[in-house]
Amino acid sequence: MNLLDGKIVSQAVKDRLKIQNEERLIQGKKAPHLAAILIGNNGASETYIGSKVKSCAEVGFKSTLIRLDESVTENELHFKINELNNDFDVDGILVQLPLPKHISEEKVIEAIFPTKDVDGFHPESVGRMVQGLPAFYPATPYGILLMLGHYNIETKGKHAVVIGRSNIVGRPISIMLNKNEYPGNCTVTVCHSHTPNLKEICLQADIIVAALGRPEFLKSDMVKEGAVVIDVGITRVPDSSKKSGFSIKGDVDFDQVAPKCSYITPVPGGVGPMTIAALLMNTFKACVAKD
Ligand code: GUN
Repeated sequence: MNLLDGKIVSQAVKDRLKIQNEERLIQGKKAPHLAAILIGNNGASETYIGSKVKSCAEVGFKSTLIRLDESVTENELHFKINELNNDFDVDGILVQLPLPKHISEEKVIEAIFPTKDVDGFHPESVGRMVQGLPAFYPATPYGILLMLGHYNIETKGKHAVVIGRSNIVGRPISIMLNKNEYPGNCTVTVCHSHTPNLKEICLQADIIVAALGRPEFLKSDMVKEGAVVIDVGITRVPDSSKKSGFSIKGDVDFDQVAPKCSYITPVPGGVGPMTIAALLMNTFKACVAKD
């Protein structure tokens, strides 16, 4: 069993971006600038945004964090997004999800200019990705591709089983794994809450992407010997032995499953750090596209 170490791979991506950014600055070009909007005070969102802002600083990118109160109106939020859309210095915009219930996620995503859509959630970005055109890929599936590529994991002709069909992970990774280039060319099966024979399907998988958000869901009797297992889960479960009062659990029962795998991502330290590396890649691309 080999670990797919997201800390090491994300650091390699960040080191590369830092150098590429320094080269830009020497040429008198601007540093990439990410603007992030955080609404309310969801603990997990605070942590994710904190890591995104910190990672920008590590690679020499500029970042602006805009905090808005939980009670912000949809109009006020759209006004802010529009300001950022029209701010030439801002290259990438992200609005951290989930949003308060009174704000439409769909309208917010569509309000961001596709040229600044570093989350890759805008329908134009998704459409371009589906058609195999240059596009911003959503950060989590993009991070998974970067990780498969870093470890030179063979994907051509493999059967990939994706558990979950969310717009953020399951659906896009299923499309990306079957595109006609590396890492890709997989035969992909997408499973979800209405899949009756999930265990049988998982047992046929060479690659499993577990992205359903149910802690320790994937057990060893669902995994073929030698499979590659990618765990996208990051659920906070109560844990009185931790100072924070919770621990982070993936969607894979790691202790059971790991001995059967050729490669597996740990949680934490697997897909999570890769998501941030991928967001930085997108922000860099958004900036370069404006040169
Ligand atoms: N919430 C959970 N994942 C993400 C993400 O990738 N981007 C944004 N904006 N919000 C999220």
